[in-house]
Amino acid sequence: MPFPEIPTRPRILVVTPEISGLPPEADTATGGIRAKAGGLADATASLVAGLVRRGADVHVALPNYRRLFHPDGGSLPDGSRVHLADDPLFHDRQQVYPRDPDEALHAALAFQREVIHRILPRVRPDLVHCNDWMSALVPAAARSQGIRSLFTLHNIHGREATLDRMGASGIDPRGFWQHLYFDRPPGTCEHARWHTPVQFMASGIFAADHVNTVSPGFLRELADGRHEGIAHGIRPEILAKLAAGRASGILNAPDPSYHPGSDPALEQRFTADRQARGKAANKAALQRELGLDEDPAAAIFFWPSRLDPVQKGPELLSDILHRTVSDYWHQPLQVVVVADGPHQECLNWITDAFSLQRRVAVRSFDERLARLAYAGSDFMLMPSRFEPCGLPQMIAPLYGCLPVVHATGGLRDTVRQLEVERSTGNGFRFEDADSKGLRWAIDQAMIFHVLPAAIRDREVRRIIRESRREFDPDRFTRGYAELYEVLLGRPLVDPAPPALAAPARAAAKRAKALLPRMTCRPQGSLLPPLLPRNPLPAV
Ligand code: GLC
Repeated sequence: MPFPEIPTRPRILVVTPEISGLPPEADTATGGIRAKAGGLADATASLVAGLVRRGADVHVALPNYRRLFHPDGGSLPDGSRVHLADDPLFHDRQQVYPRDPDEALHAALAFQREVIHRILPRVRPDLVHCNDWMSALVPAAARSQGIRSLFTLHNIHGREATLDRMGASGIDPRGFWQHLYFDRPPGTCEHARWHTPVQFMASGIFAADHVNTVSPGFLRELADGRHEGIAHGIRPEILAKLAAGRASGILNAPDPSYHPGSDPALEQRFTADRQARGKAANKAALQRELGLDEDPAAAIFFWPSRLDPVQKGPELLSDILHRTVSDYWHQPLQVVVVADGPHQECLNWITDAFSLQRRVAVRSFDERLARLAYAGSDFMLMPSRFEPCGLPQMIAPLYGCLPVVHATGGLRDTVRQLEVERSTGNGFRFEDADSKGLRWAIDQAMIFHVLPAAIRDREVRRIIRESRREFDPDRFTRGYAELYEVLLGRPLVDPAPPALAAPARAAAKRAKALLPRMTCRPQGSLLPPLLPRNPLPAV
């Protein structure tokens, strides 16, 4: 009889409803897995790629979107590290999330049914890393099976459902219902089944061994109760986790493929030293392709993110679009939008009504065009009402395109006001989320744009170099790897014993350092102070 395999490396299972790609090492059997709706897909793809590079035993669970993976919708085998959750709901989808909210809930429940009852028992991970509300019930199930878990909040949206509703989707919550977060104390399982909905996000936070947001600033904002309209369980559970030293913020990082020196989408690739010439060539190509005035002196403002009025603030732009373009008619200002979303129609209407086609171009999202636009534009617009992290404000400066942002969440953490005299800062930010604030920041950017070319070139070169260091993908993967090691109490790969404790200690120290900066006192919570099943290492 063969000896059972003795696992030396802990096994991590990343549970995500979307991912924008997998490295070949993780996707050998399946090939070409890609299902992207937004930044969550990019963040999980970078993380998995980074962990594989570090030699970690990482597995991924995601829905089997057959048609998205394969044009003919044929079935793909599970890869050795890729675990596809099957349900007819996923097979013929044309996009990742259903528009209908009830269908979206149904899909999230089907995904979690497969993860909880099929994938967890098969993969037997040491740690499960869940992302957002579509996987937020999994930490409770993991806890009941003695598996440690990390829950990452990429956004604040969430849903709720009764145990009965979960049961109808095939989830059997009998073994883990005590670890879910109910709207009101449920008393018995029977009462909970019919009358008391479970809040998904709060459950993920409550049940996980650790929670993190995708920027430190967003964690502070959640703890301070700065955001309205979010489920009432989220804040107390975040505060409880903070009080227990089990919450932190880890800033995302752009994918390493965002590099103007090697990006195949560019008309002319460039390095920091040759940014002025590179930008000029890419600007000309962008203007030509979009039918804008081919004017090398025009300042181009690029809008890269979803035109979603709830989060991204596109109405701040549409409010002032006509006026701003007109005010800068003789010192030309152009606007390029490469993004989908409900507000696209409104921007198109303004462009047509005021015949701005030579100054404003609105196109649907296209990866190649977006990359060319980063390289050919001078400024990037991101007036988000709230932003858990945001990636475009980190990608843009790598291409010498300076961010113009509302100071919130991850945008506040990553964009600092440019001060030319002191040669500091990397963009322009405004404090009040209204169109006056945005216009003020655009005016600041235009003041910079008309400075002597040598000064601008010096500042942009500095910003490209600093951004490459600051928004480093290795820093991002290391942040998660160190946190996993703290949660597991052992290293992800097998280093020599004395090296084991150092990264774990450093990560724990950083998590603790966050605590004194929080302005809110923790409130009561059901969270047990320490989990006997999952003891953390003494650090
Ligand atoms: C969501 C957030 C965004 C974040 C992304 C990846 O899309 O809105 O701020 O960058 O997730 O974490």
